[in-house]
Amino acid sequence: MDMLKKLFSLEGKVVLITGGAQGIGKAVAEHIAAVGADLVIFDKQGEKAQAAAKAISKEYQRKAIAFEVDVTKPEEIAAAIEKADAEMGKLDLLFNNAGIVLQKPVVDLEPNEWLKVIDVNLNGIFFVAQAFGRYLISRNKEGAIVNTASMSGTIVNYPQRQASYNTSKAAVVQLTKSLAVEWADKGIRVNCISPGYIFTELTSFVREDWQDLWKELTPTKRMGKPEELAGAVIYLLSDSASFATGTDLIIDGGFTIV
Ligand code: NAI
Repeated sequence: MDMLKKLFSLEGKVVLITGGAQGIGKAVAEHIAAVGADLVIFDKQGEKAQAAAKAISKEYQRKAIAFEVDVTKPEEIAAAIEKADAEMGKLDLLFNNAGIVLQKPVVDLEPNEWLKVIDVNLNGIFFVAQAFGRYLISRNKEGAIVNTASMSGTIVNYPQRQASYNTSKAAVVQLTKSLAVEWADKGIRVNCISPGYIFTELTSFVREDWQDLWKELTPTKRMGKPEELAGAVIYLLSDSASFATGTDLIIDGGFTIV
């Protein structure tokens, strides 16, 4: 096996990806299939997730399946993990990525809006990680998890007001570190990526003058593309990262350093 393959191959692995119907999850899923893994996608948009799995399977000649799962529902997650295990034979790695954003000033925010963002972005990440951890530990299997946090866990975005999102993502970083310590002796590594502004369906609706300001505030003067996160996720899932756990890998075109 050549060195590149030895370092970053996911051959023989089965990777569970949440939020893989579109955006970052879908782009990373394609790259994960390209480096040899089979895939399971969980997404609230069931049909879109199934179409993504079908297209990836065809393009990369890997097995890829999808289930309609709401990451805020622990029972749905547990049942889908059992089904996925039955269909794929096993699950090895998790890219825990589904998330939403809400831009609204705090004084206007309704209780249910705050709760919704926290529910998907924090509780959802927790419930999926918990179910996946239980799955691995009950089978005496080692594994790796990559959570999608955000640079919003470190900085406060401007000019949009999004306290619920920022708070949820800061919590994902701390949850990642907590799980990394709790599961270190089980051989389960837990890391997160913190993207800066990435152009996806999540950000495309935002006013153009704000997008221009985001680019201006980013040293590289542009937004990132979803595929520019794939290498980081593959690294953290792969055996190359065997000594990396509790890491928050910020990938933001330099936004957080200025
Ligand atoms: P997106 O909106 O394009 O994709 C998110 C996916 O998650 C969708 O397919 C959606 O159906 C799914 N999803 C949402 N709620 C769900 C639920 N309750 N259960 C199951 N699936 C659900 O967004 P994007 O940009 O791809 O974001 C992916 C992750 O990256 C999110 O966690 C987001 O917060 C994070 N992120 C995005 C950044 C950006 O600039 N786009 C920057 C930093 C972090």
